[in-house]
Amino acid sequence: MTTTLWDFPSQQYGDETQGSKDYAGATPAWVIWNLLQRFTERGELVLDPMAGSGTALDVARELGRTARGFDVHPSRPEIEQADARHLPLEAKSVDFVFVDPPYSTHIDYGEDPRDIGKLDAAAPAYLEAMEQVIGEIARVLRPGRHVGLYCCDSWIKGRPLIPIGFDLFSRLRRCFEPVDIVAVVRRNRTLLRARWHEEALAGGYLLRGFNYLFIMRRAM
Ligand SMILES: C[S@@+](CC[C@H](N)C(=O)[O-])C[C@H]1O[C@@H](n2cnc3c(N)ncnc32)[C@H](O)[C@@H]1O
Repeated sequence: MTTTLWDFPSQQYGDETQGSKDYAGATPAWVIWNLLQRFTERGELVLDPMAGSGTALDVARELGRTARGFDVHPSRPEIEQADARHLPLEAKSVDFVFVDPPYSTHIDYGEDPRDIGKLDAAAPAYLEAMEQVIGEIARVLRPGRHVGLYCCDSWIKGRPLIPIGFDLFSRLRRCFEPVDIVAVVRRNRTLLRARWHEEALAGGYLLRGFNYLFIMRRAM
């Protein structure tokens, strides 16, 4: 991609499967592919501390990078069980981090009480938890290397907007230098349903049409 607006027609690319398109909240594989092409070399170590269905692991391996994935609800054997706030990794040992965290309580990922998706983003505990995740990413990332954080604001009918993107960006800036801010068009199946668009028009509100992708660098 050559601009800060990314729009892909599908969740996955090519003939291989990256992550699982049936996993609620899976990251579009193309987003990760573009990041790894720009910010990593063959053989380097890519980390996804909230790996979900493992999209980042699959893309990394297809591109000849090594990968470690952690999650409190591991969905595959190669995803290790750990809290993204306390990773079993050495300081300054990772070449690139991709992370797509829960955006408030919209998706039920499982039972583990450490799941940040159980924290309503309107309450301080959500941002406090994400500050810890960001601090842990800063600890394990090598100086001069990059992190891509993919997220969406939270809006529920009848409640105020929670600008998760701006909130997380301000926390990222405490640890990292901004490199770029990308808007990624949301093409999830729910958004394709005409009913949602009719209700948005009738109700006078807007549906979330894009995700933020914050690209940040750890200072040398
Ligand atoms: C949006 S999903 C990630 C999707 C993933 N990138 C993919 O493509 O499938 C967010 C993930 O964060 C995990 N998670 C929530 N709290 C966590 C924590 N404290 N530590 C590690 N993972 C956590 C959830 O279990 C969920 O799998």
